[in-house]
Amino acid sequence: VVDIRKFYADTGMFTYDPGFTSTGSCESKITYIDGDKGVLLHRGYPIEDLAENCDFMEVAYLLLKGELPNAQQKEKFEYDITHHTMVHEQLTKFYSGFRRDAHPMAVMCGVVGALSAFYHDSTDINDPRHRMVASYRLIAKMPTIAAWAYKYSVGQPFIYPRNDLRYAEDFLHLMFATPCEKYEVNPVLSRAMDRILILHADHEQNASTSTVRLAGSSGANPFACIAAGIASLWGPAHGGANEAVLKMLTEIGDKKNIPEYVKRAKDKDDPFRLMGFGHRVYKNYDPRAKIMAKTCHEVLAELGMGNEPLLEVAMELEKIALEDEYFVEKKLYPNVDFYSGIIFRAMGIPVSMFTCLFALARTTGWIAQWNEMIEDPAQKIGRPRQLYTGHTTREFVPMHKRG
Ligand code: ACO
Repeated sequence: VVDIRKFYADTGMFTYDPGFTSTGSCESKITYIDGDKGVLLHRGYPIEDLAENCDFMEVAYLLLKGELPNAQQKEKFEYDITHHTMVHEQLTKFYSGFRRDAHPMAVMCGVVGALSAFYHDSTDINDPRHRMVASYRLIAKMPTIAAWAYKYSVGQPFIYPRNDLRYAEDFLHLMFATPCEKYEVNPVLSRAMDRILILHADHEQNASTSTVRLAGSSGANPFACIAAGIASLWGPAHGGANEAVLKMLTEIGDKKNIPEYVKRAKDKDDPFRLMGFGHRVYKNYDPRAKIMAKTCHEVLAELGMGNEPLLEVAMELEKIALEDEYFVEKKLYPNVDFYSGIIFRAMGIPVSMFTCLFALARTTGWIAQWNEMIEDPAQKIGRPRQLYTGHTTREFVPMHKRG
């Protein structure tokens, strides 16, 4: 192992790796990806097993604490999370400070960052108890914060969390209940939502997770760090892709138009790409995409939307692309975003909320990674170097001599 500081001091050299495509930034025991084989493990457990057999709270516990909970541990964890789902009533005033047409992700950045102004008793990062309480608070409050961003945008009153509901059920209740009528959570939809949360829970050192770690490396409090993660996730190349998939499928409109779009995606003079295809790490089928496709079928069947034209277009597009030489050669497979937008739309979740849902789920991964970083004795402030390409020393030019 090279001591990079000594190496740089001795040789004046360091690695220049835009996009960090081959630079490891940390050690981690949380998530493993083998992109060539299409494998995703959390703490050693395949994502397929977790999605099939666990609920989101079990996976959150696993990411945070390293082991799957037994029945007693799970009950206690759920109790603790449930009893942190309310947000300080004063925070409701934050929402009314935003324009009604503000993007819910803008609201999320603001409100989550503001949590540190309300929960001083969990911002001491050197105290393990503070760290755990902050982690619970973030996981617990995120559905409330996200759903309230939606409620505010449509002018409906905020709905308060219910302690008798499971995590995903409560999120659907917070989103869709109104004071006017009784809202029954559909068990097929809540199970689907739970699975979608599991599929988005963590994905090692992607842009937003690296942002959380980098922000946290300076000693910033966890609420501020998660707000930074939300900001990074907001970008269309990261959290916004399922929205782009939905737009593309709507534009294609009919199966007969697919060949034209596939042709465009292969044309190097056309910037168009098949959205929901390809991944920086996966050069095989994204294992999450397979589970997402199955979930999509279940949700549409439950809602009597089995003949949904968008699903038909998506399935046919997948079939054609997987048999196409260009996509085979470049190892471009559907990613997690390919089917999720169709599911969200069918559930009645507006497009502007798609990335908020991603943020909600990924908060567990972010906070697990943040805790791991703080507890790592090798942890130090993140401080990338740069390859300076500007001027060398120049003679100062007084104002009256400048052109
Ligand atoms: N459609 C057509 N061609 C593609 C696509 C696509 N979706 N994705 C990659 N390619 C081609 C590129 O043009 C490039 O071709 P070249 O070798 O002839 O230049 C080659 O495949 C490699 O592509 P890169 O952009 O270099 O691969 P990278 O790993 O940097 O990008 C990315 C991965 C950004 C996801 C890309 O595949 C893409 O733009 N996909 C569509 C957007 C999308 O679905 N994003 C969601 C990602 S998953 C997530 O964030 C949760």
